[in-house]
Amino acid sequence: MMKWNRKDLLGIQELSREEILFILDTAESFKEISRREIKKVPTLRGKTVITLFYEPSTRTRTSFEIAAKRLSADTINISANTSSYVKGETLKDTAKNLESMRPDAIVIRHSMPGAPHMLSKIVDASVINGGDGTHEHPTQALLDLYTIREKKGTIDGLKVVIIGDISHSRVARSNIFSLTKFNTEIVCSGPPTMIPPHLEDLGVRVEYDINRAIKDADVIMMLRIQKERGGISYIPSIKEYSTIYGLKKEHVEKAKKDVIIMHPGPMNRGIEITDEVADGPYSVILDQVENGVAVRMAILFLLIGGET
Ligand code: CP
Repeated sequence: MMKWNRKDLLGIQELSREEILFILDTAESFKEISRREIKKVPTLRGKTVITLFYEPSTRTRTSFEIAAKRLSADTINISANTSSYVKGETLKDTAKNLESMRPDAIVIRHSMPGAPHMLSKIVDASVINGGDGTHEHPTQALLDLYTIREKKGTIDGLKVVIIGDISHSRVARSNIFSLTKFNTEIVCSGPPTMIPPHLEDLGVRVEYDINRAIKDADVIMMLRIQKERGGISYIPSIKEYSTIYGLKKEHVEKAKKDVIIMHPGPMNRGIEITDEVADGPYSVILDQVENGVAVRMAILFLLIGGET
């Protein structure tokens, strides 16, 4: 059996296709635990997992906490606004103090790209990137890949269309890094002001016309405008954006008959996606959330669970 010898999960970019498949296969074996009456196994008993979030989160933090608890680890949540960060403590000092309490894993979300990488150099604990600025969101990309493989039976050979604020999206970056390790056709669409220069160098095609982008798509991933990163200033108005780039039923009809619609959340309904599409028969948005727990259980197990 393959071993996963990494201390940390900092990004998708550095993972091989084999490592990604190993994580997805491991997650498959964990998924059924969440559907049991008693949703708990002793795998990580005696281990301590800290979530250290400097940015808001519903899914990622809850998902990691549930994943750790289902594996019997002890969990501690730290939010920036209730921590000594508001008294001026640096991330480096916070890291050193947390390390003194001997956690086994720290999941960090931070607005500064590279914050998890810095943390990993300071602490012996495994560091997991829960989203660092506009850089990466590796566990989101892994749960997205898991969902694609679950629904489509494969990742290779698919046409995946990513639509929206590509420039500010760590989800888009991590998904591009993961999907390019497979034999996929990746098309990015959005207003020109939200498409970074030289995006094609990452192995994707840019198509500004959403209808042409979606034609024959197997997977459509919608992105939120990152208001907290100034995304709103890149478009003339929300109304114009939603008119041109908001995903509607008539767009979905241009894709393959068995297309799946994805969104990492949180959704801005009525802006990048209509209610009809978000809640419609092709949406797998809540499947993504369910699969996130299994994927995060796998990651915690592989990083701090000892021998595999
Ligand atoms: N997808 C995602 O990262 O959601 P949260 O911001 O709620 O964690």
